[in-house]
Parts: sequence; structure tokens; C-alpha cells
Amino acid sequence: MARRVAVIGAGSSGLVCVKCCLDEGLAPVCFESSDDIGGLWRFKESPEQDSSASYRSLFTNTSKEMMCFSDFPMPAHFPNYLHNSQLLQYLHLYAAHFNLLKHIRCQTTVLSVKQSPDFACSGQWEVLTENSDGFQETHIFDAVLVCAGHYSKPVLPLKDFPGFKTFKGQYCHSYQYKDPDPYKGKKVLVVGIGNSAADIASELSRVTNKTFLSTRQGAWVVSRMSRKGHPLDLTVFSRFVELVALILPRHLLNWIGEEKANQRYNHRLYGLMPKHRFFDQRPVINDDLPGCILLGTLVIKPNIGEFQGSTVVFEDGTIEEQIDAVVFCTGYNYNFHFLPSSIFTGPGHNLTLYNHVFPPTLQHPTLGIMGLIEPWGPIMPVVEMQARWATRVIKGNLSKILLCFSPRCNCPKNADLQVEYIPYLDQLANQLRVRPNLFWLLLTDPPVGFRVLFGPCTPYQYRLRGPGKWAGARNAILTVWDRVEQPMMVRVVPEDHPSRLPALLSLFGVTVLITALYARGR
Ligand SMILES: Cc1cc2nc3c(=O)[nH]c(=O)nc-3n(C[C@H](O)[C@H](O)[C@H](O)COP(=O)(O)OP(=O)(O)OC[C@H]3O[C@@H](n4cnc5c(N)ncnc54)[C@H](O)[C@@H]3O)c2cc1C
Ligand SMILES: *[C@@H]1O[C@H](CO)[C@@H](O)[C@H](O)[C@H]1NC(C)=O
Ligand SMILES: *[C@@H]1O[C@H](CO)[C@@H](O)[C@H](O)[C@H]1NC(C)=O
Ligand SMILES: *[C@@H]1O[C@H](CO)[C@@H](O)[C@H](O)[C@H]1NC(C)=O
Ligand SMILES: *[C@@H]1O[C@H](CO)[C@@H](O)[C@H](O)[C@H]1NC(C)=O
Repeated sequence: MARRVAVIGAGSSGLVCVKCCLDEGLAPVCFESSDDIGGLWRFKESPEQDSSASYRSLFTNTSKEMMCFSDFPMPAHFPNYLHNSQLLQYLHLYAAHFNLLKHIRCQTTVLSVKQSPDFACSGQWEVLTENSDGFQETHIFDAVLVCAGHYSKPVLPLKDFPGFKTFKGQYCHSYQYKDPDPYKGKKVLVVGIGNSAADIASELSRVTNKTFLSTRQGAWVVSRMSRKGHPLDLTVFSRFVELVALILPRHLLNWIGEEKANQRYNHRLYGLMPKHRFFDQRPVINDDLPGCILLGTLVIKPNIGEFQGSTVVFEDGTIEEQIDAVVFCTGYNYNFHFLPSSIFTGPGHNLTLYNHVFPPTLQHPTLGIMGLIEPWGPIMPVVEMQARWATRVIKGNLSKILLCFSPRCNCPKNADLQVEYIPYLDQLANQLRVRPNLFWLLLTDPPVGFRVLFGPCTPYQYRLRGPGKWAGARNAILTVWDRVEQPMMVRVVPEDHPSRLPALLSLFGVTVLITALYARGR
């Protein structure tokens, strides 16, 4: 009988886990507490229990060719960066194409996951669920994949802001923020400088009387748009760039990154300049922020010193009066209250995971925490690779990994959520034997080899060979730029204007050269 796997959550991570289970001949049952799939990308007018939340204007910060699943490119007519409703549409297309819905039970919340009494020999789990009628049920599973997301528990450190008790205006966490309308004509303070803070502050600054953005450390802010208007991630995430980055010293790389960012607008002039170097932290991706600063509708402020009623005193001594509302974009923590507390053994009671997936303290690798990472690139292809890898581990195919779960083996541990995009994908792909063989490709299939080396490191690269090989991968790699162009090249444009200037200049150059040589010869 096929091994049964519980998948907790039906966001992008849960869907791809169900699909990978089916690919490996496992029997998945996916529990989703809300009434439909999509997780973060299913916009909700008000936050739901245990779920991540987004604002109406949320667009992706990673482009469609980089963030799609590896055997299911996004429709060619989709824009390069998607509105949340379009990403949801893609997830529905994916679920329909691979027939995933019949394995998903909506309105069913997982209350607890416990080791079964004979866990030591079976590695099985008891999963307690509750449906919308309050009916509780216990199921036995051979393995559990946790896909509950890690943006569902907002962090609101009000104690860090002296005198906040005296503030009588409205306040909320970005988790509750939906629209700018309630803030029309008001004076609003946004706290934090992550991607959400930058989005929300620039959106607010268009309708408010004034918007302030308070940041302790500042940030490097980059645009979605790279050279010639190409999507940023298509130019940055390539194997060739990765190789060059390996050779160059880090401070030179930082200098290049900072130089590029400052060429668009000087981060010092715009009050954004952080203490840290460019590659020390993920840059903020935002196109509107600098424009709003230039218009003066958005003003950057340092850390908050204290609140005195509706007056805010900042650390540099400046004072802003009559602040009507505060939006705290102070981040999230993960919330896996249904998991046994025994697996939280890292520093500060943190989760420590083998290869960012399996808690190494368990005797069996049958509990996977999916997507608990913050890669520099798109997260969906990374979770897909984790799912391909984890389902094989669960099946017992990767015996080398299983050795790590014997008490004697020293597991490499990594509590840090940051992972490097291509190296982490390659590391898992290596164990699966699906990493593209560059040398072989360049010899036998140069057009593809060339694109794998110099082009964007798209997810399709990991479907060229090995288990899970997809016949469409080669073509998908060759047509990346067609799908990038299609949504934009919708108008017949005139030919480039021919210019004689370059020809004239080279003629002039050649003449000078010949004259110089002739003069020397004499
Ligand atoms: C504002 C914002 C913007 C982002 N933009 C991008 C981007 O542009 N590109 C990118 O790559 N990443 C982005 N991310 C990261 C994002 O988290 C991932 O893209 C991804 O969609 C997360 O999917 P997930 O399935 O892991 O989690 P979620 O989408 O949060 O889904 C988790 C699901 O689990 C369900 N659930 C939770 N607990 C239970 C339970 N106990 N029982 C049953 N069901 C449960 C929830 O209802 C939910 O449906 C963004 C994150 C945020 C917060
Ligand atoms: C902001 O409010 C002040 C005082 O009420 C007013 O003078 C000013 O015109 C307003 N500015 C905008 C942009 O609404
Ligand atoms: C991990 O532990 C540290 C303390 O060592 C704590 O500050 C931090 O918040 C913890 N992280 C998570 C995600 O719980
Ligand atoms: C996109 O935004 C989300 C939410 O702030 C963030 O977690 C993710 O790291 C961002 N992606 C990139 C590539 O910066
Ligand atoms: C993976 O496992 C299946 C059966 O579970 C087996 O038939 C197959 O040969 C295994 N493959 C590898 C590469 O070990």
C-alpha cells in the first residue's frame, strides 16, 4: 500500500507537496483550514485565523519565469510581475492541470501532530483535525509535510516604543492593512523598511496629507526593473553571475551593487542609506518609493524616540505632531503551535532543521517543515525542490540521508533562514541527481547549455534529467524570453532609426589611425 502523507496547508507550498507526493506514488491528504486554496495569494478582506494576509495592491517581487513551478510555465500572456489575483489564478491552473484538488480537504484545521505510540519503529504520526462543524478526527500518517506558511503570526513590539500608551490614534500591523482609503487626508507613520513597509508607505503617500516612514537601519532599495527594463531576477540569478561572484572579492561585489543602486538615485540623498553593505541583507524591492520621496509626499525618518500623545519624537530630535495613525511593518514569526514542542531545540527554542527541512532530533525523517527559508530569490521553486527531495527521503530512496538520522551521525545544522538561491537548489538537486550537467549540455546541446550557463537560472533547468524529468523542459528554456516579451510587445513599433553617426565615427577613427601610423613610419 502507498505510504500516506499529511500535507498541512494548501498555499503554494502545500500544492507542490501534494503534486510531488503523487509523482512519487505516495498517497497525500492535504488539510487546509480556510475554504479555498492559495494561502497568502488568496486575498482576504480581513485576516483569518492561522493564515497569512496580504493587501489589495500586492504584486510579486519575483518575475513569472523565475517563480513558476519547474514543469508548469506561467501562461505567456501573463505580465512579468503578477498581481496577487493572477498568482492565485496560476495556482488554480496548476492544481487543475495536475488534478490536485481531490486530495485537498478545505475547512479542516490541523490541531495537533503527535508521534504515534510506536513511532520508534514505524515513524508514524497521529494528526488531529477539526472541520467547520467542530467535528474532530484522528488520522494515522506515515509522514507529515508542514506547509502552514511563516507569515501568520505578526510581531508587534509595542514595548519597544516608549510612551505608545499615550497614543490615541489608530494603529495596526501590516498584517491587517488592506487599502489606503481609511487613511485619506491623514498624517500617517509607517514603521519598518521591509518590502511590505515600502509598498504600504508609497501607496499611502499618494492619498494621505503626509506619510512618514521610520527606519532604524535604512535599506538598499532596488527596482524590479533591471537594465533595458528586463525583470531584475532574470538578469541577476544566473550561473555565470554566480561564478563571477565566487571569484570577485566581497567588498568589490558590494561596491558594484551599491554603485548600481546609487546610479538610479543616491541613497544618501534620499535618506535611505543603511550602515550595512549591499550583500549583507536582502535589498528591498520597490519601484515607487524613490518617486514618492522626490514628490515630498513621503518623508524618511530615523527610529522613534518616544510617543507623546499624537506627537512623535524621533531619535534625531525632530518632532512630528498630530499623527493620526501608525502602521507597524515589524515582521512576522512562525506559528507551528500544532507541532510537538520537543522539536524546537535550537537556540532560543528555535527550529533547527537538517537541510532546512527535517528536524534532526527525530529518529525518522518523516516530518518535513517546508518553505521555512528566506532565499534571495523566489521561494516557490525552492519549496518545489524541497518537496521533490523530501518525498524521496520519505520513500526511503535517499539512503545516504537516512544515515544522518541514526543517533551517531552528526547532522549539519543551520538555524538561519537565509539561504543562497542557486547553491541551495543545486545542493538538493545534486542528491536527487537532477542538477543540470553543464559540461555535458554544452557538448551535446549547445543552445540549451549556453542558456543554462549564461541565461537566467530558471526552474526548468532542474527538469532536464533524472527522476521527474520533463519532456517540455528543453523547449521551456529556449522560449523564456518569448514569454517575457509577449505581454509587453503588443504594439507594432517603428524600426529603430538608422544612424550614420557610428559609421562616421569609425571612419574618422580609422583615418586618424592610418594618419598616425603613416606619420610614425616617416
Ligand atoms: C506580503 C508578502 C509578499 C510576498 N511576495 C513574494 C513574492 O513576490 N515572491 C516570492 O517568491 N515570495 C513571496 N512571499 C513569500 C511567500 O510567503 C511565498 O511566496 C509563498 O506563497 C508562501 O506559501 P506557503 O504555502 O508556504 O504559505 P501560505 O501561502 O501562507 O499558505 C499556508 C496555508 O496553510 C494554511 N494553514 C495554516 N495553518 C493550518 C493548520 N493548522 N491547519 C490547516 N491549514 C493551515 C493556511 O490557511 C494557508 O492557506 C511573500 C510573502 C509576503 C508575506
Ligand atoms: C495637509 O494639512 C495641512 C494642514 O491642515 C494643509 O495646510 C495642507 O494643505 C495639507 N496638505 C495636503 C497635501 O493635503
Ligand atoms: C531564535 O532565538 C533567538 C534567541 O537566541 C530569538 O531572538 C529569536 O527570536 C528566535 N527566532 C525565532 C524564529 O523564534
Ligand atoms: C518578496 O517579498 C517578501 C515579503 O516581504 C519577502 O519575504 C521576499 O523575500 C521578497 N523576495 C525577494 C526576492 O526579495
Ligand atoms: C526508489 O525506490 C523504488 C521503490 O520504492 C525503487 O523501485 C527504485 O529502484 C528506487 N530508486 C533508487 C534510485 O534508489
